[in-house]
Amino acid sequence: MKTLKIADGIHMLTMNVEDILFEGIWEIANGVTLNSYIVQGEKTAIIDGVIGWDGIPETLYSTLEKIGVKPDDIDYLIVNHMEPDHSGWISNFRKIKDDFTIICTDKAAKMVSSFYGEDRIRIVKEGDTLDLGKGKLLSFHPVPNVHWPDTMYTCERDTKTLFSCDMFGAFGRMTDHYFDDELTAEEMDFFEFEGIRYYSNVMTTFTPSIRKAIEKAKELEINIIAPGHGPVYRKNPQKIMDDYSRFSLYAEGAGKNEITILWGSMYGMTAKAVDFVESILKREGVRYNRLEMPLESDSEMVATVFKSAGVIIGAPTYEYKLFPPVAAALNELGRKKITGKLAFRFGSYGWSGGAERELNEIIERNKMNWDFIESVEFEGAPVEEDLIKIEARVLELIKRMREKVVE
Ligand SMILES: Cc1cc2nc3c(=O)[nH]c(=O)nc-3n(C[C@H](O)[C@H](O)[C@H](O)COP(=O)(O)O)c2cc1C
Ligand SMILES: [Fe+2]
Ligand SMILES: [Fe+2]
Repeated sequence: MKTLKIADGIHMLTMNVEDILFEGIWEIANGVTLNSYIVQGEKTAIIDGVIGWDGIPETLYSTLEKIGVKPDDIDYLIVNHMEPDHSGWISNFRKIKDDFTIICTDKAAKMVSSFYGEDRIRIVKEGDTLDLGKGKLLSFHPVPNVHWPDTMYTCERDTKTLFSCDMFGAFGRMTDHYFDDELTAEEMDFFEFEGIRYYSNVMTTFTPSIRKAIEKAKELEINIIAPGHGPVYRKNPQKIMDDYSRFSLYAEGAGKNEITILWGSMYGMTAKAVDFVESILKREGVRYNRLEMPLESDSEMVATVFKSAGVIIGAPTYEYKLFPPVAAALNELGRKKITGKLAFRFGSYGWSGGAERELNEIIERNKMNWDFIESVEFEGAPVEEDLIKIEARVLELIKRMREKVVE
């Protein structure tokens, strides 16, 4: 665990977590950070504490020692969000200290008690404050359904630091650089994609609430954004707010100027058409991603489709339905409420077809409202006539996706 100073009396404690399935699902290729914050006035508060998460008191002591805090000095645990990636440490802390108060929303209070049996809780509402002394004043601002219904922002008024928890977070490990002004151009790109991965994997289902939370952050006039995952924004907090606004548009069909080919094939018949499509995209100079299912992780698949203005689906018929790994991918996108994408599908069948019917069912059932250019189905291998149709429809997609592009 690393400790970093954000301002006098405000420190970040951060650690990288790798080799886990985030939420028990997401294979996060580049890991994730868990960030906690300590605010010291006369009283000391820890926000979204994860130090000592391993239950070993030495971890806790040695980390806090680096910033001159003894565990006994901690008076308040501020739980912005009850999800155990931020709160899982409470029971361990209780073993070594007895007299602290948990501060959280009413919805979180119910969970703090049912998950950890805690009852020493102060419930806060919009605009409530906690004066820690020495000029450190915290205010609390619920942002319900930013991930869970219990979530809130904590804001330190003197430095105008927003502790935003999952909001404005990103996946991706941090090694040398922790603040936006330290990131190289390459690292900026890395965290932009890891932000998209985080938003699309974890947050996108809650897009309407996220929009409200962005508005609330604007009203608070913030100088520093300090999230629960990923870098701290102190030079340009507006950047991550703008990024999150843009990601919220990707959730509803906008995208970068690129196409994702989401495909699968058993014996290479559909793959012939995929190769052909790839040659057209190359010829036309269009940026594209080629994702073969089931070889890609769901994390990568969701993030890549999410950020694309155009989607091309290549998948054959399998047992009277859509090739299962592609059907599963589309279902996952539907569960995530990724709507309004401009798309085109083609695929091979042997005798009856049936893939197209299931595709329509998935789109309908999940209310995805994707805008499909007419599909091309071919028996066995694609012949010249099929490829001519496919080419025309890919060109139509390239033309029509321009109005979806937001970068
Ligand atoms: C397990 C399996 C199930 C299939 N089920 C159907 C089917 O229900 N209806 C149909 O028209 N073709 C079906 N086919 C035939 C495939 O759709 C056909 O072989 C197609 O060319 C496969 O394309 P691919 O090589 O891109 O996977 C099935 C093939 C396999 C191997
Ligand atoms: Fe969360
Ligand atoms: Fe989180």
